[in-house]
Amino acid sequence: MMKKPKKMIIANWKMNVTSEKDAESLFLSIKNVVSKLEYTTMVCCPPHMYVNQVARYVDHRNYRVGGQDAYPEESGSRTGETSVLMMKNAGAEYVILGHSERRHLETKSDVARKVTAVLEHDMVPIICIGEEQRDKNWKKTLTQQLRDVFNRVPKKNPENIIIAYEPVWAISGDKKNPATAVEYMEALEVIKKELQKMFKTAKAVDDMRFLYGGSLDDKNIEDFLKNASVDGFLVGRVSHDPRVLMTMFRLIEDHEHRELFGQLDD
Ligand code: PGA
Repeated sequence: MMKKPKKMIIANWKMNVTSEKDAESLFLSIKNVVSKLEYTTMVCCPPHMYVNQVARYVDHRNYRVGGQDAYPEESGSRTGETSVLMMKNAGAEYVILGHSERRHLETKSDVARKVTAVLEHDMVPIICIGEEQRDKNWKKTLTQQLRDVFNRVPKKNPENIIIAYEPVWAISGDKKNPATAVEYMEALEVIKKELQKMFKTAKAVDDMRFLYGGSLDDKNIEDFLKNASVDGFLVGRVSHDPRVLMTMFRLIEDHEHRELFGQLDD
């Protein structure tokens, strides 16, 4: 029997951790627990300047580090930028790209160039897409965002590609308006159909991983675990709250255990 892939949690710390000391203690506070999880892996994405520091503590395949963005050229006269190569050398293996909080700072082709550079450096891009509103054009928005990336990116190594569906209306800020598992599944259908058209094989799409993000926490994760086909979650607000993360780990572990062994346990 093929081993069930683990559920991923990507912890996007955004700009919410503001000192080396806090970055280190947050990373370490859940390290031991994460390394014991059977069915969950976690990627912490600290602000750029703490990537190096937390990556020094990475010693288990369950617990890895990613960047929140990266510049597609390796080096050069780019004031204030952090390159993909710098991220990689600092210990990041993943990079969040196209996050809605950055899309107003970059063009579609910037996002595509970043995805290409991350893949060329054997890192994993976590490509965020999502509509602003569920209006009559929301499906078109999603497919256009995918085309804007994959019409410009070499279509290889789909197993290294993660797509995070993050509807902008659901990303927390002050509101807290998560999508439901049903809404996620509607979007996933649109996304997979479009990717299959672009990659021309169902296998490529099967090899990719699909995450949900947007006001996800310990209260609504079960809806997704029970009612959606989801490979993991991208979390912001709760990413720096070890107490909530612990509950989410427990819910994932219990759910996955039941899925695998439920009939035997009953
Ligand atoms: P949220 O953020 O969990 O606070 O909604 C998710 C994200 O912005 O990636």
